[in-house]
Amino acid sequence: MRAVVLISGRGSNMEALLQAGLPVEFACVISNRPDAKGLEVARSLGVATAVVDHRQYHGREAFDAALAAAIDGHAPDLVILAGFMRVLTESFVRRYQGRLINIHPALLPAFPGLHTHARALAAGVRVHGCTVHFVTPEVDVGPIIVQAAVPVLAGDDEASLSARVLAQEHRIFPLAVRWFAEGRLRLRDDGTVALAGQSGAGPALISPLPDGG
Ligand code: GRF
Repeated sequence: MRAVVLISGRGSNMEALLQAGLPVEFACVISNRPDAKGLEVARSLGVATAVVDHRQYHGREAFDAALAAAIDGHAPDLVILAGFMRVLTESFVRRYQGRLINIHPALLPAFPGLHTHARALAAGVRVHGCTVHFVTPEVDVGPIIVQAAVPVLAGDDEASLSARVLAQEHRIFPLAVRWFAEGRLRLRDDGTVALAGQSGAGPALISPLPDGG
């Protein structure tokens, strides 16, 4: 199985994928920003990199066409959005439908879009988390593959909460890619995802608990 990873910045999720020992050939890491830190990380791990700089294209259609050309040169089975911060056109998404996945730093369908951790804090939710999902044309609503929940603690700020969520992103993204590579994910007609051979769930997360609870 061959995959292409798209990034825009730091690339910690991309690094988690490259380091996870997955049965996947990572053909290329592509960034829309030439200065993305993740590009150096990918190169240091021996993975080819490319840049398709969105500032050099007029409009989303032109950028997405260039991006698709760069991707298709590697004939990937899976295209992974790992902190890729551009909204993609419907034609781009349809081209890769069923083999395009994204990680989102919230428990979808709660908090789609940006600034998820600040919004979770403002809403006072007690549980927050992250989601890996198939991408559909509407942003952050595609079929959910796997989620991880974390407690929101008294005294949390955006930095502490995002760090707690990110640690779980680095766990569930490799899981989802492994399941895809193993052919265990199937999109049901109702738009949900079936996981073949699912063996159980983690413990319930109750937050907050009384002292000693
Ligand atoms: C992650 O929180 C991801 O969920 C979001 O953007 C952030 C990217 O971080 N889409 P990194 O580049 O993977 O470190």
